[in-house]
Amino acid sequence: MLIILLGPPGAGKGTQAESIVKNYGLAYVSTGDILRKAVKEETPLGCKARENMNQGQLVPDNLVVEIVRERLMEPDCFKGALLDGFPRTVDQAVFLDQALPDIGTKIDSVLLIEVEEDELIERLTGRRVCSDCGANYHLKFKPPKVRNVCDQCGGDLYQRDDDTLETVKERLDVYKKQTEPLIKFYQEKGLISEVNGNKDINGVYEQIKSILDNL
Ligand code: AP5
Ligand code: MG
Ligand code: ZN
Repeated sequence: MLIILLGPPGAGKGTQAESIVKNYGLAYVSTGDILRKAVKEETPLGCKARENMNQGQLVPDNLVVEIVRERLMEPDCFKGALLDGFPRTVDQAVFLDQALPDIGTKIDSVLLIEVEEDELIERLTGRRVCSDCGANYHLKFKPPKVRNVCDQCGGDLYQRDDDTLETVKERLDVYKKQTEPLIKFYQEKGLISEVNGNKDINGVYEQIKSILDNL
């Protein structure tokens, strides 16, 4: 099984992914998380990606498709995978279509999570992330039990470098120009399921659950 999460920055892809992978036993493939780890560890990939990420721009397709090709070959992906933040351009989607026969799977559904722009800005500027396990929190909408401490692993919470107001606006712009064309691309293949992301976290998950249970 292969499920894709599509939607603007702040739509709640990472938040919903935590529940989806747990309940459906899927491997979690987040290009954003893989890239942030590479930046933190200052690997060659991280050094190439850092500037693009901090400016809110996409990392070049050739780097990202390599990451995904390798990640999908890892054994935990054989049971099925949830893609978060990939594909992000039509060229990446074409690459994925070409790679899937080798991996022996196909796309089951593309969950399109849509949210009003003002809400996206509020979600992103108030987000906090666990530096150890990557869990997502929000100062107002999903506060941790203890300030700045992850409920799940006790790790420290931090604010992502690209969650400043200026960079958030750039990321929303990049989404409209480079990623939104994917909606039509997957609509034409009959793969899009729409999810109203304006509800609270549980309300969004309920919609996703009913889509996945009926696949
Ligand atoms: P990536 O990490 O993928 O970031 P993104 O797409 O910008 O999305 P976010 O992670 O910001 O949002 P989300 O939808 O996961 O929201 P979340 O659940 O955290 O990419 C980062 C960068 O890496 C890119 O800019 C690019 O440079 C590079 N990159 C990654 N993939 C790439 C690719 N394929 N090609 C090229 N470059 C790539 O929720 C946000 C906040 O809202 C949280 O605080 C959460 O607690 C809260 N929240 C969630 N749901 C709700 C709700 N229903 N109600 C209220 N609050 C909520
Ligand atoms: Mg995310
Ligand atoms: Zn944690």
